[in-house]
Amino acid sequence: MKNVIVTGGAGFIGSNFIRYILEKENNIKVINVDKLTYAGNLENLKDIESNSNYIFKRVDICDRDAIEKIMIEYDVDTIVNFAAESHVDRSIEDPTEFLNTNIKGTQVLLDVAKKLWTESENKYRDNVRYLQVSTDEVYGSLNIDDECFSEMTPLNPHSPYSASKASADMFVKAYFDTYGFPAMITRCSNNYGPYQFPEKFIPLIMNNCLKHKNIPVYGDGKNVRDWLYVEDHCDAIYQALKNGKIGEVYNVGGHNERENIQIVKIIIDYLNKNVDSSITEDLITYVKDRKGHDRRYGINPEKIHNELNWLPKTKFEDGIVKTIEWYLNNQDWLDNIVNGDYANYYQKMYNK
Ligand code: NAD
Ligand code: DAU
Repeated sequence: MKNVIVTGGAGFIGSNFIRYILEKENNIKVINVDKLTYAGNLENLKDIESNSNYIFKRVDICDRDAIEKIMIEYDVDTIVNFAAESHVDRSIEDPTEFLNTNIKGTQVLLDVAKKLWTESENKYRDNVRYLQVSTDEVYGSLNIDDECFSEMTPLNPHSPYSASKASADMFVKAYFDTYGFPAMITRCSNNYGPYQFPEKFIPLIMNNCLKHKNIPVYGDGKNVRDWLYVEDHCDAIYQALKNGKIGEVYNVGGHNERENIQIVKIIIDYLNKNVDSSITEDLITYVKDRKGHDRRYGINPEKIHNELNWLPKTKFEDGIVKTIEWYLNNQDWLDNIVNGDYANYYQKMYNK
């Protein structure tokens, strides 16, 4: 791994991953290819923007010529594709951009890399790698007593977002099966941690608590997500890049399933005791459920544990406190977002 394109590096997980990999590796160049949609924020990378191993290119992954130019200019040998439209609620409002970025953009990256990395038919340069960052949502929804998702669980996406991610995964598989293209896929559960855009549940709870606004809990609040600290996800991707096998899928999860309402109560309890005793459970407001709301996600991470020796290092009890503290210490970051276009989004989504 020498010259790495990280797409979507100005988003939540991508920016954490760039920070992570620059700490791990001294002799690499990291090229952050990001279109800077509403979710892209260069503030997430302020501390490393002057690192001489870091380069930023404002480019859409659907732009084949621009991707090809960057790959040639930097002699890229590794691509980690985080770039995506990532929010389920937005995909329910309008799936169009999800098809463009998540499906077409992935195919453009695969195709350009295939062209530039091919030495002869179905034979590629040594040590080239493509990693597709996917999600547990492609497996669909579990009932409470179902076994967790394994890599063998059939794909059964429900939302336009997860349908677009499953389609992208199918293209990655097709490029491996048809052309022997050196790709792999990781499928991770819900991440939490610093720099997450506040349309997502945990930073939304934080922001609303700090502003004494109601916390909208969809349905009965008993939907279950399997929460993983973002740095552990970055480590899993790093291990897959280093030691993973091409053509393989690796599920990444924390064995940390919680009902949504439990998450809300943990955050309120912490803020109530440590920040402001007027932040109480009175802020909890049950609202209309998300359309097609998946009941439960749960990942079986045995394969990545057994084959790549990966285990999450952060206990939820510690990770959630670190996360809460991060948002408390970075309220300007939060305010810069929520005072911009996000205000219109919030109005549209929650005041229907
Ligand atoms: P995010 O929405 O915070 O960031 C997405 C980034 O992609 C933004 O910087 C945005 O500007 C960029 N982008 C969007 N369209 C682009 C395009 N056409 N060209 C170039 N850049 C573009 O997303 P995230 O939560 O950091 O998720 C990153 C990836 O991880 C996504 O592929 C997502 O499906 C996957 N994932 C996320 C989670 C999670 O809990 N957040 C869990 C599993 C998998
Ligand atoms: O499982 C991995 C996926 O996790 C990723 O692929 C997605 O990119 C990421 O957005 C996330 O999807 P979710 O839909 O699970 O995350 P979200 O933060 O939107 O919601 C988490 C849970 O909280 C879900 O059950 C819906 C609920 N929720 C969410 C919001 C925004 C609420 O009850 N109220 C809200 O206002």
